[in-house]
Amino acid sequence: MEKANIDWGNIGFGYIPTESRYVSNFKDGAWDAGCLTGDDKVVISECAGVLQYAQTCFEGLKAYTTEDGRIVTFRPDLNADRMIDSCKRLEMPVFPKERFIEAVEKVVAANAKYVPPYGSGATLYIRPYMFGSSPVIGVKPAQEYQFRMFATPVGPYFKGGVKPLTIRICDFDRAAPNGTGHIKAGLNYAMSLYAIMDAHNQGFDENMYLDAATRTKVEETGGANFLFVTKDGKVVTPKSNSILPSITRRSLMYVAKEVLGLEAEEREVYVDELKDFAECGLCGTAAVISPVGKIVDHGKEICLPAGMTEMGPVTKKLYDTLTGIQMGRIPAPEGWIHEIKC
Ligand code: PLP
Ligand code: COI
Repeated sequence: MEKANIDWGNIGFGYIPTESRYVSNFKDGAWDAGCLTGDDKVVISECAGVLQYAQTCFEGLKAYTTEDGRIVTFRPDLNADRMIDSCKRLEMPVFPKERFIEAVEKVVAANAKYVPPYGSGATLYIRPYMFGSSPVIGVKPAQEYQFRMFATPVGPYFKGGVKPLTIRICDFDRAAPNGTGHIKAGLNYAMSLYAIMDAHNQGFDENMYLDAATRTKVEETGGANFLFVTKDGKVVTPKSNSILPSITRRSLMYVAKEVLGLEAEEREVYVDELKDFAECGLCGTAAVISPVGKIVDHGKEICLPAGMTEMGPVTKKLYDTLTGIQMGRIPAPEGWIHEIKC
């Protein structure tokens, strides 16, 4: 397969249009057969539910070229499940799991020349999404929906690759208790834009959001969950029902316990204990595991002992094992790797 003429090692996390995307429409209570299309434009009513009341949700997963030249995706079944949860919470029709996985297969196969080569540091990011497409003016769910999935080659989410990040504890909240923090609703990201621009303007890479009710517990960032490592080598991740259940985080907790034999615990993490951790990382499909070197709490700096030059040792082991599984260098737990037949 001849690859697209792209400088794979130097692309960032941006949108590069590819040839084919998948579209299916929901009308009169049913999804149509769906198909691939070359058309990257969406035409909808000026009064569409997504435009008026933000009725939309999305997913994110990646396709990788393995060491032996296969193209694979990582746990797409869990993205399908999570999108079903998002749709239910937003009063949208669910897109069936087997059709979601079939769409991933079709989109990746049709865009195989955009799946970056093994070892390039880039991957093919797949973006499934759904939105209310029919007119809505009173506040209620739309009657018609569109499900789409495109793919775009991406490099690292954070500029500088794996250089540790500086983050700040944020005074804005991301999610309310019993709100929508646990689903991948577009609205969660729209309302984080002011906070992330403010963080960037003040020289921070990301925001650490706290629980909105007590502001004493760590939640997540705008686009990734947290992993911490204690000084005695235990992996800890915040437990909360207002954070997105990251597939990367769930996979890393399994890897920590079952592959690396580490202790790993999901529990409430208090701001007060941040100073006691040895390592901190942001984990997600886009972020993979991005190390954090410094957390700033209203001017007070918490410097992680792992430092600002490279990943801490436990974070590095987790990173190497996860990416090793994704790139086919390390045997994957049953069902984690979904090969794409091109
Ligand atoms: N948290 C938020 C808010 C996200 O947007 C994402 C990205 O999808 C994650 C966490 C990481 O989730 P995953 O590992 O499933 O990509
Ligand atoms: C992902 O990791 O797939 C996400 O959706 C996060 C987003 C901030 C890019």
